[in-house]
Amino acid sequence: MPEDLILIKFGGSLITNKSKICSPKLKIIDELCKAIREILSQGKKIIIVHGAGSFGHLKAKKWNISEGVDERNKEFQYAAIEEIRSDMEKLNKIIISNLKHHSIDCNVYSPHKNGKGLGLAYDLKKDFFESAKNNVTVSYGDVVDCDDERKFGILSGDDLCELICTKFKPSHVIFAIDGALGLIDDPNLPGGGNLIKEYNIGTKIVTNEVSNDVTGGMDLKLMRATNCFKTGSRVSIINGNNPQMIINAINGKEFIGTEFILNSPD
Ligand code: IPE
Repeated sequence: MPEDLILIKFGGSLITNKSKICSPKLKIIDELCKAIREILSQGKKIIIVHGAGSFGHLKAKKWNISEGVDERNKEFQYAAIEEIRSDMEKLNKIIISNLKHHSIDCNVYSPHKNGKGLGLAYDLKKDFFESAKNNVTVSYGDVVDCDDERKFGILSGDDLCELICTKFKPSHVIFAIDGALGLIDDPNLPGGGNLIKEYNIGTKIVTNEVSNDVTGGMDLKLMRATNCFKTGSRVSIINGNNPQMIINAINGKEFIGTEFILNSPD
């Protein structure tokens, strides 16, 4: 397992205002990119996968893109797909130019241009990372084509993270989220529930449905994160609004967030 390869997912609600169409959170994007600079200066390689937030979910929901082709609406759906792909490229460019601003060159892997298949059936190419010229590769959740009758659907950034773990075995995967300090035991509890500092994989927790989300929200993230852990990577879920916590976690220092563990039953 490459000790120096770190995978970081920037959740869509962290980097965009999720209810306002195509609205980036520029300040936090800049702070995250600054943290990436610091992590790189320690000699690490980084894969960033970013979500869509309001650059993807709103239009995808309106036209049911995650369900595949609907013969009655397919003209509108194909027009929406063009728009979503271009919106995602815009969000990606915002991130890349911010990285550039912090003197970071990166390779970009656009899922719909490079492969097909939904969820874990997506054919992530080997050259995704191996032939990368720079120490940073950036990819993102996207609308991708598939060969079955659905014809297209959504590839979540969380799906990509599991695929990357299976192929490239990063030493540490960090899901940078918004809205919570990490995994919460039950968001319906008074006060919004308690942070789970160590999540023993497989333990059942209560998750709330997320509005404006077409890819499965926290349930999908938890499943993908658990599978990343099972491939041998260290996995942490951290509130990305405090990027120092990401740096601390990578450096083995104390951080606020959730660390995945496996406590075998006695
Ligand atoms: C969704 O990707 C991609 C599209 C809707 C086009 P993600 O599932 O990774 O996005 P977030 O992190 O939930 O916003």
